Amino acid sequence: MKIAVLGAGNMGSALLGGMIKTGVVAAADVRATTKTEAHAAELRERLGVHATAGGNAEAANGAAIVILAVKPGVVPKVVKEIRDSLHESQILISLAAALPISAIEDAAQCRMPIFRAMPNIPVLVEEGAVGICHNSLATALHRETVESIFRPVGITAFVEEEHMDAVTALSGSGPAYIYMVIEAMAAAGVKMGLPREVSMRLSEQTVLGAAKHARESGLHPAILRDQVITPGGTTIAAIHELERHGLRSMLISAIETATIHAGKRTEILLADIEKQKHA
Ligand SMILES: NC(=O)c1ccc[n+]([C@@H]2O[C@H](COP(=O)([O-])OP(=O)(O)OC[C@H]3O[C@@H](n4cnc5c(N)ncnc54)[C@H](OP(=O)(O)O)[C@@H]3O)[C@@H](O)[C@H]2O)c1
Repeated sequence: MKIAVLGAGNMGSALLGGMIKTGVVAAADVRATTKTEAHAAELRERLGVHATAGGNAEAANGAAIVILAVKPGVVPKVVKEIRDSLHESQILISLAAALPISAIEDAAQCRMPIFRAMPNIPVLVEEGAVGICHNSLATALHRETVESIFRPVGITAFVEEEHMDAVTALSGSGPAYIYMVIEAMAAAGVKMGLPREVSMRLSEQTVLGAAKHARESGLHPAILRDQVITPGGTTIAAIHELERHGLRSMLISAIETATIHAGKRTEILLADIEKQKHA
């Protein structure tokens, strides 16, 4: 399976690294592109792939899967660049936040399966969460192929495109919320006199362990939380404080706001694309 990754920056190269490491694709079968030669050279050195600065059409030519990993505003330009290399037997996957499939179809002018995926940064440690949607030309086999690309770097969830803003707000941006929780818990430990390094390690591991326990037990988090609580104990005293300050309500509002914001970004992006068309 030949794969082209156009714009192999942070996300594109993280995905590529995971795919190569787990044998989904051989480095020799990858064509990656960047904007600058320095970055292309770094990819050749680090991942052993064929990488060039530019050359998007050449990279896409003959690839079974073309992954668009450039910034959202650059996607239509890159798709137009590769238009003549696209074929209905290929799969096109966009990682661009907020950019709807219709904008990619418009630029591609090719009746082909197009997927939109929203990965998150823990793909770097093979614990990503990837929301995926697709156009009507994607078959069950295409879905399986696309899933096999993302599975090595995390879990996948297929959703309707209308839910991609919520995916962006929940799991796309989510690591940032959890980093804040880790930071705050570590700061609290320091406030209570723990050495910084110990406090940080305990905080990180607590988040990691709780997430793993929630997933592996299959139990609702409210049940797991209740299992940690002893009547009259320290945990319920802390939970009372968290409830008083609205932790759950705060997170619900944050994700609601981010979902609305993602929708507004789509409107801005589409207006910019329209402007570029008439420029
Ligand atoms: N980072 C995340 O957590 C995350 C999460 C979900 C989705 N995404 C999506 O992933 C995409 C990439 O984000 P990122 O954070 O990985 O950005 P990034 O690190 O800036 O990567 C973008 C890459 O595109 C290259 N590039 C720019 N113009 C190009 C062109 N005309 N042809 C070929 N390559 C070109 C850049 O090359 P140089 O390095 O040489 O400048 C860079 O390597 C975005 O659409 C974003 O919405 C990112």
